[in-house]
Amino acid sequence: MSIKKYGAAILRERARPVTEFGSELIGFAEKMKQLMEEAAGVGLAANQAGIDKSLFIAKLGDEVYAFVNPEILPLSSETVIDEEGCLSIPGVWVDVERHRKIRLTAQNLEGQPIRVELEDYFARVVQHEIDHLNGVLIIDRISTRERRRVADQLEEIEDREKSQPL
Ligand code: NI
Repeated sequence: MSIKKYGAAILRERARPVTEFGSELIGFAEKMKQLMEEAAGVGLAANQAGIDKSLFIAKLGDEVYAFVNPEILPLSSETVIDEEGCLSIPGVWVDVERHRKIRLTAQNLEGQPIRVELEDYFARVVQHEIDHLNGVLIIDRISTRERRRVADQLEEIEDREKSQPL
């Protein structure tokens, strides 16, 4: 298992809802955690690991948590712009506008409901990962001008990804 890079079709697909909980799902989350830690990331969505499931993991503080079938609700109209990178778009850093405060509802790996309110950095990480599960990448949330700035880098990543053997 490796992290899918920009150019991989699965990064543009909407993840399938999880209906079966248990050991297989826990196994996926474990592998994702390994991948994320090897890449020194703070979040990873299942489709970045080539798995078509609505699941992401995120390092919030010292712990890595798994969120299944996540949904978010902005808790205020306040937004914040800050720099973001993405393990699927290595070396590209862009300013992205996010809701400052959100409510995340999801399930854990056993199917139990989770409901948590998050602000600032944690809210940003979660919004980034949920974007992945909807097939959305940080480069979709930047200005045309920013997009032009990173165009060559994107092309390089895409070429490399598409030349990978399947
Ligand atoms: Ni990402």
